[in-house]
Amino acid sequence: MAESTKSAKLSIDGKEYELPIFAPTAGPDVVDIRKLYAQAGVFTYDPGFTSTASCDSTITYIDGDKGELLHRGYPIDQLAGNSHYLEVCYLLLYGELPTPAELEDFECRVTNHTMLHEQMMNFFRGFRRDAHPMAVMTGVVGAMSAFYHDSTDIADPWQREVASIRLIAKMPTIAAMAYKYTIGQPFVYPRNDLDYASNFLRMCFAVPAEDYEVNPILSRAMDRIFTLHADHEQNASTSTVRLASSSGANPFACIAAGIACLWGPAHGGANQACLEMLNEIGTVDRIPEFIARAKDKNDPFRLMGFGHRVYKNFDPRAKVMKQSADEVLDLLGVENNPILQVAKELEAAALADPYFAEKKLFPNVDFYSGIILEAMGFPTSMFTPIFALSRTVGWISQWKEMIADPQNKIGRPRQLYLGSTARNYVDIENR
Ligand code: SDX
Repeated sequence: MAESTKSAKLSIDGKEYELPIFAPTAGPDVVDIRKLYAQAGVFTYDPGFTSTASCDSTITYIDGDKGELLHRGYPIDQLAGNSHYLEVCYLLLYGELPTPAELEDFECRVTNHTMLHEQMMNFFRGFRRDAHPMAVMTGVVGAMSAFYHDSTDIADPWQREVASIRLIAKMPTIAAMAYKYTIGQPFVYPRNDLDYASNFLRMCFAVPAEDYEVNPILSRAMDRIFTLHADHEQNASTSTVRLASSSGANPFACIAAGIACLWGPAHGGANQACLEMLNEIGTVDRIPEFIARAKDKNDPFRLMGFGHRVYKNFDPRAKVMKQSADEVLDLLGVENNPILQVAKELEAAALADPYFAEKKLFPNVDFYSGIILEAMGFPTSMFTPIFALSRTVGWISQWKEMIADPQNKIGRPRQLYLGSTARNYVDIENR
């Protein structure tokens, strides 16, 4: 824990309270209110946690004003340009970039855990074929605690390590199987001679009837999308994983909770919602109509892929994603993709509009990712599963950090109660 170098004074009903202030290595100071209720008998009030630090962490730092994202201090654009997803996984999990030997060992451990227990195939077959892949992933990942009993004891560091590797290794297999199941094609087993992104593409797009060659351009783009979604500080789904884990629940159940939270259109579901919105707009001449709707307080419509709780500048991931969209569509020969044109025109129109400028609404990670994924052949229903696959390492890294923290205790917020005060029961004949 950081050292307290100064304090805040709070006066309530003429009584003064001194609250320690802790200075971070980067970002805002924090006021320590842990003893406030015991000392002053009051709660703080912060629905949506807009001004609340829920923990201390050394994994990811975001500067929303600068549009900066660091993983263990390394800027996301440098990692996206020079590293690859499994190396970023190692960095997030263990805190430092690996040596060649460390990386080879880590990749070997992940590669050798990519297969699922064969009995889980039956679990998939219990779903309807038209189930959303996120519903399948939530169910199957939660069910992993019924198949991998030897890595559910979170008090055992070795079991925590095995569960971490299993989740990172098996998530692409589960996501690909969820996709294959919904399109009625046979499951494709992972291959140990393929890298992480190539394995996922092959498990999604190969069929037994013919050989499948992974396009290196697509696997590089896929790997970069995994990297851009790997972790993002204390976002809603990561906070869900931390809160679920604080009760001592097993890691598979906690990651399933994170997947469920990510599915929401305000969070990871925005990439699917964004592409559906772009398809609904359809042509650039309809952009003003949708910009007007997004600004209309009486219309619940929002520009999907725009705005962010933390970023009040460009999401640095969106910048890399936009560049990648241009590259991938150009290399695939679909650079004249009409939806990409609508996205670029919509971005330009929104950024030029005072409403978005005043509210500091910029494109976020979800604005361009769907365009790339659709060009790669994925249906919109697979966009959020790919986000969940990528974010598994972030959830796991934050989970490991929390479990290892000696201050770790069950998360149990309080409330501002506005309901009825005590009253007596009234028998139904007297109502
Ligand atoms: C992700 O937290 C993370 O880090 C998440 C994430 C990660 O990697 O984990 O980055 C991934 O979830 C990215 C966000 C994806 N969601 C979307 O693209 C959905 C559309 N965006 C909005 O729903 C919204 O911007 C949020 C949910 C992202 C942020 O909401 P906040 O922080 O609660 O902000 P807000 O809703 O209070 O909005 C502030 C103002 C409001 O207007 P006023 O009430 O002040 O007049 O801005 C307006 C909002 O109406 N606004 C928008 C808007 N987003 C906010 N208006 C139009 N279109 C939008 N997209």
